[in-house]
Amino acid sequence: MSLTLWLMEGLSSQRDIISSIKTFWEKSFCNKTFINKTSKSLTLIASHRNQRNEILSLADIALIEPREDAQRFQFIVDTVEEYGVNAIHAGRNPQWFESHRAAIEALGVSLTTGATDANSFELADDKVEFAAYMQQHALPVVASVQINSADQLRDEIAQNRQLPQPARLCVKPVTGIYGMGFWRFDDSANPMAAFTHPDNRKVHPDLYLHALAQQGEFAPLVLMPYLPGPEYSVDMLVSKGKVLAAVARRKEGSLQYLEQSGEAYQLALRCAEVMQGDGLINVQTRHNDDGVPVLLEINMRPSGGIGYTRHSGVNLPGLFALFTLGVLSAAEVTEIAKNSFSPAVVRPLTEAVLYSATLENSPSNKVNA
Ligand SMILES: Nc1ncnc2c1ncn2[C@@H]1O[C@H](COP(=O)(O)OP(=O)(O)O)[C@@H](O)[C@H]1O
Ligand SMILES: [Mg+2]
Repeated sequence: MSLTLWLMEGLSSQRDIISSIKTFWEKSFCNKTFINKTSKSLTLIASHRNQRNEILSLADIALIEPREDAQRFQFIVDTVEEYGVNAIHAGRNPQWFESHRAAIEALGVSLTTGATDANSFELADDKVEFAAYMQQHALPVVASVQINSADQLRDEIAQNRQLPQPARLCVKPVTGIYGMGFWRFDDSANPMAAFTHPDNRKVHPDLYLHALAQQGEFAPLVLMPYLPGPEYSVDMLVSKGKVLAAVARRKEGSLQYLEQSGEAYQLALRCAEVMQGDGLINVQTRHNDDGVPVLLEINMRPSGGIGYTRHSGVNLPGLFALFTLGVLSAAEVTEIAKNSFSPAVVRPLTEAVLYSATLENSPSNKVNA
């Protein structure tokens, strides 16, 4: 008998999540840590819309997902039946999964989307609404003004310049990902700076406003004070709003320091609780000018860097798998996460992996073989 966990399409960390779960399972059972917990083996299914063989090849079974929403439910029904799936982890389309939660759970599987209802995703996706919600709950969050036109932004910048102590301002899209569209305004920036050194993210406001005014449909922006940092990215395993395990990554230059305490860490945990997270999620904070951490955003999904946290001894994807499959209780997860942590410093690298054009673990290939 086998316990079957299905990781549906996620972001690039889906690969790290699969390998973390496999390592954790093997290690746990080799160490005989959980020898009395289950005699079953683990089957990992991974699926993706695209031919992401570098991800899919790591699982025991690889499936290609249908592209259309309308075909997804039947695909889930068929897969659950064929492989006896016990638990599904949804990486994309959380709103769709939430609207089908009852029907999916009725198939006898547990479903993890990052939250327990669609509202949390809506709040998390809109950085202005998220900030307002955090304020309502008395959690410190970056002051966020929504900008709906180039003229409004011009006025805000002009008003800020009149202040005795003008704030350093920056913007990002109200809905966004990957840090795309984040820019700092700098009156002393060389007009070419944004083109010659885009990674510095500094732009002369006049130049930005000029480009913004040409834009057809206005995508709303968040105007914020620039926070000097350090920045924290806190990865967590949460069960219905209760944080079971967490590791913070303090980002300093190209290094990340893995921690499990401190003001930013505690703030991130409170945010996850207020947002009623469920599963592997991530909260980001940055220290303000007074050295106090404030919330930047919550991602109700695993972060791109979740795999790095493994170097602290706490394997969050592994704990998630054993928890969602019912092998470990909430109390056991918490205990393991506390006892296995030790601080570590990591340096993310980009690496190349072999990409095989065929998937040995794809059922369609097995039929052909
Ligand atoms: N107010 C701010 N001050 C300084 N840096 C910021 C601020 N807002 C965002 N950033 C930087 O931009 C990055 C992306 O912002 P974030 O809120 O995480 O949005 P997303 O990751 O969804 O694009 C952050 O990781 C941080 O480095
Ligand atoms: Mg972010």
